[in-house]
Amino acid sequence: MLIHLSWLTLSSSSVRILSFPPQIRYSRYSAPIASITTRVFQMGHEKSQLVSQKSNSIANFRLCNVSGRKTELVEIHARNPKFHVLFIPGNPGVVSFYTDFLESLYEQMGETASITGIGYISHSEKDWEHGKLFGLNEQIDHKINFIQQELQALEVPLIVVGHSIGAYMSLEVNKRIPEKVAYFVALYPFLAVDTKSQQQAIIKKISRSQITSTIISGIVALFGLLPIWASRFIAKNSLGKSWSTTALDALCTSVLKYHTMRNVLYLVMTEFEELVNVPDWEFLREKRNRIAFLYGDDDHWAPLHMHDEIVKNVPNAIVEVEKEGHTHAFSCTITGSQWVARHVATLIKKTLI
Ligand SMILES: *[C@@H]1O[C@H](CO)[C@@H](O)[C@H](O)[C@H]1NC(C)=O
Repeated sequence: MLIHLSWLTLSSSSVRILSFPPQIRYSRYSAPIASITTRVFQMGHEKSQLVSQKSNSIANFRLCNVSGRKTELVEIHARNPKFHVLFIPGNPGVVSFYTDFLESLYEQMGETASITGIGYISHSEKDWEHGKLFGLNEQIDHKINFIQQELQALEVPLIVVGHSIGAYMSLEVNKRIPEKVAYFVALYPFLAVDTKSQQQAIIKKISRSQITSTIISGIVALFGLLPIWASRFIAKNSLGKSWSTTALDALCTSVLKYHTMRNVLYLVMTEFEELVNVPDWEFLREKRNRIAFLYGDDDHWAPLHMHDEIVKNVPNAIVEVEKEGHTHAFSCTITGSQWVARHVATLIKKTLI
């Protein structure tokens, strides 16, 4: 989860509600927010219906029908790919948060990998699902359905990269269809509930209350009714100047919606129900040559004591800590997106090339 919802609580308390990482980005490469709202989404499997008007943007946005669910994709096609990277975001699962990251990854890989970033069901600009709420297991099934539908005929190794709860989803994908996944990178992974974390306790409580969730989603949606320049202005001034245009655009176009926020909180609730056990150490040990983890040094979703647990329980796994201050919400800044992209590219090159 990337977003610091603190500003949503209006002025009064500074409760950092959700530390979700909304990861989106608008970068120097890509189209500004306004064009996101105008980009054309199409259903179907035809390739690369595009999208952003600016010619120097390398990412395409596509709307795809995954077992009946409209799904937002960010795609970058390499001419002669040696790999395919599937990226699963954190919660909010708005994939455009990560556009800068994905474009940077493409460049860092020397254009040798095609890349697909997949959004969550109903964490989107439009309320395609008419208010329906989707929990963790449905979101995991959705990613597996996507792989089976769209990446079945892949001729190059599939690398799955997941952020936060997206790393947990990726791990489940890895368990359910291990033959499909050549390598897995977990970024700031949320793998188990931390009962000692006060922030998590607060977030859990909020997500479990229908009334609170409804109120928060209503307030968020009110911000979303403002003209985009106004909501961006407020977001920029409350979230920090370092946020990229990409991230602000993703936030304002897709997260500040009632249906998205309800789904974000509902998903959080189910995360707290599902992630009560320790990770499956045996599976991780078995896969240790095919898995890498990145932790941050101040991240309540992916705390350092979990890093230590992995080091202890999965000997020889690649487990690293980012200490440059890019934080859990790395994709919200250009420097964070670039740093993590370089890190992932280096891991892939070291292991698979
Ligand atoms: C989406 O796919 C489902 C089957 O997976 C199909 O029944 C449905 O008609 C499709 N919807 C559109 C709009 O193409």
